[in-house]
Amino acid sequence: MPETHDGRLQLYATAVEAQHEAFARDVARGLSSLPKWLPAKYFYDDAGSRLFEQICALPEYYLYRTEKAILATYAADIAAALDYLPLVELGPGNASKTQYLLAAYAQRGQPFCYCPVDISRTMLCATAQRLVATYPQLTVRALHADFAAQPQALAILDLPRKAIAFLGSSLGNFTPAESVAFLRQLVALMRPGDAFLLGIDLKKSPAVLVPAYDDAQGVTAAFNRNLLERINRELGGHFDVRRFAHVALYNEAEGRIEMHLRSDRAQEVAIEALGLTVAFAEGETIHTENSYKYTAEEVAALGQQAGLRLERTWFDPRRFFLVALFRPC
Ligand code: TRP
Repeated sequence: MPETHDGRLQLYATAVEAQHEAFARDVARGLSSLPKWLPAKYFYDDAGSRLFEQICALPEYYLYRTEKAILATYAADIAAALDYLPLVELGPGNASKTQYLLAAYAQRGQPFCYCPVDISRTMLCATAQRLVATYPQLTVRALHADFAAQPQALAILDLPRKAIAFLGSSLGNFTPAESVAFLRQLVALMRPGDAFLLGIDLKKSPAVLVPAYDDAQGVTAAFNRNLLERINRELGGHFDVRRFAHVALYNEAEGRIEMHLRSDRAQEVAIEALGLTVAFAEGETIHTENSYKYTAEEVAALGQQAGLRLERTWFDPRRFFLVALFRPC
């Protein structure tokens, strides 16, 4: 990335595990398991990231609009509660929600620092460049890293104090046990007085939840199937993606939305780069994603197990979504 804007933009790259090898290994493992599954982080290649932006614009996908409204409404309050600490954001995408917090930081009229951490390098660089051009007092330290696999990569930013933001209900894409383990690793990187800002979707009627993951226009279906298209593109896969139906359901017992791809017939699919042929029975599914839903109390308890004390909460009027501020304890 070119050094522009008086050196106010720095790009850090960790030893992101050679993505191609990791993808090959994880696909081989997941499609050889029973039930079959694929890790959700691979949704976000360039095509997937673009589809996800379209998901955020869907009428059914209330999560994005609701969280954005909370951040827009309470930006000044939240920024002050974060003590205007350097803001590290995990998986910001195009940072279209975070911009409200950054605007509130900028309003104070002092230099400030934003550190987006993203697995998609294209998105990361575009976002970083746009932001330094918008705010003259902003320094961006962008980190290209797979933060889900290696949260300790944040250490290379070398920030003595920080606020870490994890928005978009992305924590819900981990199981509760994984969430606690992940949060513990973040806590290990924090100091007393640092802040953790979490945006998380709340439990509600499946009549509202399910359409958010199964929209009328089929964008979420395309997003889900893009995972198979990515296998075709990058691993020489022979998936006929039309033979896999998008399935979204609410698993009440687990408190999660599940996303699957269901083979509509018995079929075999060769994946050349893996030297593998995968057999599907009619109706067999690949589990591609979980999106856990919590109550505010469950969110507090989850934080507590990881060594985080819940300090403040911000809700939308319908209490669909929660933005929560934690401190390490
Ligand atoms: N964190 C988002 C969520 O759980 C990710 C997401 C939204 C998603 N829609 C999706 C992931 C569809 C896979 C498929 O809401």
